[in-house]
Amino acid sequence: MANLLEQLLTLATAGTVMISSALTAAAPHNDINGLLYLQNRQWRSGAAYIPELREADVKGKVREMRDDAAAALEQMAADCKAETGFHLVSVSGYRSYQTQATIYQRKVKNVGSQKRADEYVARAGASEHQLGLAMDLGWEYKEKGKLRLYSGTSNKFPNSAAGAWATENCWKYGFILRYQEGWEDVTGYKAEEWHFRYVGRENAEKIYANQMPLETYLILLRQEVLMDIVLGAEKE
Ligand code: DAL
Ligand code: ZN
Repeated sequence: MANLLEQLLTLATAGTVMISSALTAAAPHNDINGLLYLQNRQWRSGAAYIPELREADVKGKVREMRDDAAAALEQMAADCKAETGFHLVSVSGYRSYQTQATIYQRKVKNVGSQKRADEYVARAGASEHQLGLAMDLGWEYKEKGKLRLYSGTSNKFPNSAAGAWATENCWKYGFILRYQEGWEDVTGYKAEEWHFRYVGRENAEKIYANQMPLETYLILLRQEVLMDIVLGAEKE
């Protein structure tokens, strides 16, 4: 009897583990430690969420990112320098909840209304910079024979040698260009040629090939994973 109970308990535990890992796989946008966690206007984090961070070894300021994203950025910046002769520049990586609040308030002041500020800047808890997986990039350029760093964000980014290279090659390092023209209704923000989000190589390659926002990719991925679970269950 005790043996039978033990066997039933083991089976139930195995079943629970299987169901919970299937659910996690089907909902990567909910896994805050995963690479596909979705943080946007609808899905926000609280002030308590602070990832483990380190400084990426690249030129620039505010270089803190999660370790996997920092390592990918370092490789991307090194290859960019080797191939174009110019550095990519870190402008803004990790932003705490409080920093997001400050940046948003400053934007409201600059543009004159919350409605306009909302087109460009996330409110506190809504920016994926809080995840340590996002980086705003600037570029190095030559002026009067001297190398200088452009450290603000600008739509001139893709016209610079380093920016054009990053725009074309970022997916090979696991980064996606998160906010693009024509996606405003889905992402909620105007295009930002300088904002890169780390999602890992496999996801970045698919997203780049299909030219779709992260939000759309996550819906398709969820359908695919759920379909696999259903078909797998049918076969058993
Ligand atoms: N500018 C982007 C949307 C942010 O604030 O995270
Ligand atoms: Zn950004």
